[in-house]
Amino acid sequence: MSQLSLAAARLLAGITAGITAAIAAAIAAAIVAAAAPPVQAADANAGKTRAAQCAACHGPDGIAVLPEAPNLAGQVEGYLVKSLKDYRSGTRKHEQMGVMAKGLSDRDIENLAAYYHQLPAGGRGAAR
Ligand code: HEC
Repeated sequence: MSQLSLAAARLLAGITAGITAAIAAAIAAAIVAAAAPPVQAADANAGKTRAAQCAACHGPDGIAVLPEAPNLAGQVEGYLVKSLKDYRSGTRKHEQMGVMAKGLSDRDIENLAAYYHQLPAGGRGAAR
């Protein structure tokens, strides 16, 4: 190989490596962006607004008014999120809750969970 073509080959290899690195960096950035959407804290106030449609069964304070409905007030937040996602996906089956959860976005679910979690477990009058 002549000196010239050797230099050209080295240059080409360098460019290829550079492009590969650039592509790898772009892919890595895309993965990071996909895996970590901008972190937004759950909004209990928005959850409260959404919870109007839950109150008929789970009560305005998260203390159930329907005999077969569970209390939600003070419940562990992650459990509420999981339950609602499971009803929505059908992993957990319950006719009424399946219908209710179908209309909720991930964000709605997080907000509802934050709202019910911060309500006093014994009802509004009990926590003070
Ligand atoms: C028509 C009555 C009704 C409405 C309206 C309703 N629920 Fe339910 N919910 C139930 C019943 C009954 C259960 C128990 C289901 C079961 O046995 O899995 C339940 C269960 C749940 C659970 C699981 C609790 C646990 O301890 O496992 C969560 C969370 C929940 N509901 C949240 C909500 C939210 C949030 C809304 C409003 C978007 C809502 N529900 C609306 C009747 C209702």
